[in-house]
Amino acid sequence: MEARRAGQGLPLLTEGSAPAPAPPLSLRAARAGYGRIEILHGIDLVVHRGEVTALLGPNGAGKTTALNVMSGLLRPTDGCRHVAGRHLNDADADELARLGIRHIREGRSVYANLSVDDNLLVATSSGGSTDRIREVAYTLFPVLKERRTQLAGTLSGGERQMLALARGLGVDPAVLLIDELSMGLAPLVVAKLYDVVADVARAGVSVFVVEQFATLGLKYASHAYVMTNGRVTYDGPSADAIDAVHAAYLGAA
Ligand SMILES: Nc1ncnc2c1ncn2[C@@H]1O[C@H](COP(=O)(O)OP(=O)(O)O)[C@@H](O)[C@H]1O
Ligand SMILES: [Mg+2]
Repeated sequence: MEARRAGQGLPLLTEGSAPAPAPPLSLRAARAGYGRIEILHGIDLVVHRGEVTALLGPNGAGKTTALNVMSGLLRPTDGCRHVAGRHLNDADADELARLGIRHIREGRSVYANLSVDDNLLVATSSGGSTDRIREVAYTLFPVLKERRTQLAGTLSGGERQMLALARGLGVDPAVLLIDELSMGLAPLVVAKLYDVVADVARAGVSVFVVEQFATLGLKYASHAYVMTNGRVTYDGPSADAIDAVHAAYLGAA
């Protein structure tokens, strides 16, 4: 990955300017839900620049809903969504995608009936070049190149997740939001995916991963949030999050 390309679509991202630049994406006291049912009861989340940030919590905590608000699939009903310091509550997912925010949705980020290669091409529809996405995808995951004519629906779970990651990374995002990176995958495959995620964060992409099953996410993340019942119960270094994680999972059991 090329760090200098990451974030090129974002406003107000002049490097080296003082004071410290605003985080690439954040929610402040954000509330949101579906219809009249409020799911998020005023949450603060920050995507830390050039780091891996983890959002952990049991099933039903509101993690996916939070990602939906961050990526523009849902509008906050109260509070704020900030993109590089700009208040952008009304921006929709396409607009945020053009600003460099990419959302890898759980189980929905590849088209099963398209080939690997066509999945990559379609991912450039809101920006990005086809040469570039192929270069990124096939360099990061050579196995995808071997399978480029194969239908995505016939890939293994790990290969499908690689394709989903490649679709997000190949457009040189500023922010990559990933819902349940490890779900259903063997530990070795998960470790490989997290190694890639850590590399791209080092190259300057700000990565925000949501995980229900927490421990691996904590190992790779520098900052962690724990959520239960639509509220953030921990916000701090991932190294200190484990008690909050246990409390969240015990409370949900
Ligand atoms: N499209 C939807 N319509 C109505 N309720 C939903 C919808 N999606 C999720 N919910 C509800 O929102 C709550 C939080 O869900 P979700 O954000 O998916 O949690 P998590 O990702 O932490 O498992 C759950 O009670 C769930 O039933
Ligand atoms: Mg979820």
